[in-house]
Amino acid sequence: MKPFLKWAGGKYKIIEIIKAALPTGKRLIEPFAGSGAVFLNTDYENYLIADANADLINLFHCVQKDKQNFIEQAQQLFIPENNQEMRFYEFREEFNSITDLKRKAALFIYLNRHCFNGLCRYNSKGKFNVPFGRYKHPSFPEQALITFSEKSQHAIFKQADFVETLHAAKLGDVVYCDPPYAPLNATSNFTSYTQAAFSLEHQKKLAEIALKLANKGIPVIISNHDTEFTRQIYAQAKLEFFEVQRFISSNAANRNKAGELLAIF
Ligand SMILES: C[S@@+](CC[C@H](N)C(=O)[O-])C[C@H]1O[C@@H](n2cnc3c(N)ncnc32)[C@H](O)[C@@H]1O
Repeated sequence: MKPFLKWAGGKYKIIEIIKAALPTGKRLIEPFAGSGAVFLNTDYENYLIADANADLINLFHCVQKDKQNFIEQAQQLFIPENNQEMRFYEFREEFNSITDLKRKAALFIYLNRHCFNGLCRYNSKGKFNVPFGRYKHPSFPEQALITFSEKSQHAIFKQADFVETLHAAKLGDVVYCDPPYAPLNATSNFTSYTQAAFSLEHQKKLAEIALKLANKGIPVIISNHDTEFTRQIYAQAKLEFFEVQRFISSNAANRNKAGELLAIF
């Protein structure tokens, strides 16, 4: 099932590789939910689905609690008159200034489907700042929202940093982590990755927690780029390598196959 959101680093295209590596268990914990591709395409009894992005988790809550109302409200935004630059920037401005969470969730899905490449970026003041995307006919993902809503009856959605989410893991859980990608050209000498909020220190911290959980009998799988740095921090895990066709840079020369790995703790 395809997620209803476009999401950078979304795992829908490689879902079969991830599924093959996930052990069975009662509950799946995802500290980096993104579009929920793994949540939607696996079959655990229960889920704890978390992400640091408050707008994303607010949207998931709205779809979970009041699907019909949400669909009606959001669908109204998907009309041809709203697929033009001026309207887009008005809605973006509204999104950045309102406090009504239902309206904000509807605008979030509008922005996701009308903005450039479906990106989700905020400026230093926390304002969504992705430009207009110029799509011919942005479609409203009604069926995908209905499916998500049904599946979400078995889930708890939480806005949290990954460290907090991982504290909740207990025996019987399986943990799948899909952090923002480690940079392709960093070495362990770097201490921070300035453009991303998720630094190399965060990457190391995640690997350390994964090892601790695995030692307690809780399996943890982590997705990432295959680099010297990630091979180092996941040295204690079993590694599986594969290649993915991806946009890994705005530089056309880098739009090629990127090596990825799964670290299985
Ligand atoms: C690669 S994406 C996950 C993609 C997801 N697996 C999918 O298929 O769509 C990484 C996610 O990590 C979230 N994130 C970034 N920093 C975080 C943090 N410190 N704690 C929790 N989530 C974080 C981002 O909001 C983003 O949704």
